[in-house]
Amino acid sequence: MDDRVLLKEASRAREFSYSPYSDFAVGAALLSKSGKVYTGCNVENAAFTPGNCAERTAVFKAVSEGEREFEAIAIVGGRNGSKPETVYPCGVCRQVLCEFVDAESFRVITGEPEGEMKVMTFNTLLPFSFGPKSL
Ligand code: THU
Repeated sequence: MDDRVLLKEASRAREFSYSPYSDFAVGAALLSKSGKVYTGCNVENAAFTPGNCAERTAVFKAVSEGEREFEAIAIVGGRNGSKPETVYPCGVCRQVLCEFVDAESFRVITGEPEGEMKVMTFNTLLPFSFGPKSL
């Protein structure tokens, strides 16, 4: 699947963001090696800490449906009601992704769905990682 299309899928997923506390809406679209797209949004909570990021929502959806190999993730964010913009995954989401991706080839895509798009490999975001091969 085209990276631009995946970014637009992330933008569509962002519309479901439940983020009344931070007022910051994030959407993600995770492409599996089998060719399926799993979307996610951030889901916040009145008790704050139980909230979940968009990226982890997408990963947990996919893994819980039998997927363990992934090619790319697209992410967009921005204040509720604003246009989607560049967002990089938080540290916790990087660690969760690290469990299931090949760092040299997995693509992280962000930017504006109708504008500038950035594509990088996972190892640039989490070098010297602690993953399954570390144990
Ligand atoms: N958030 C994500 O969903 N993904 C990120 O990569 C960064 C942060 C969410 C968490 C919280 O609901 C809101 O954005 C503000 O931090």
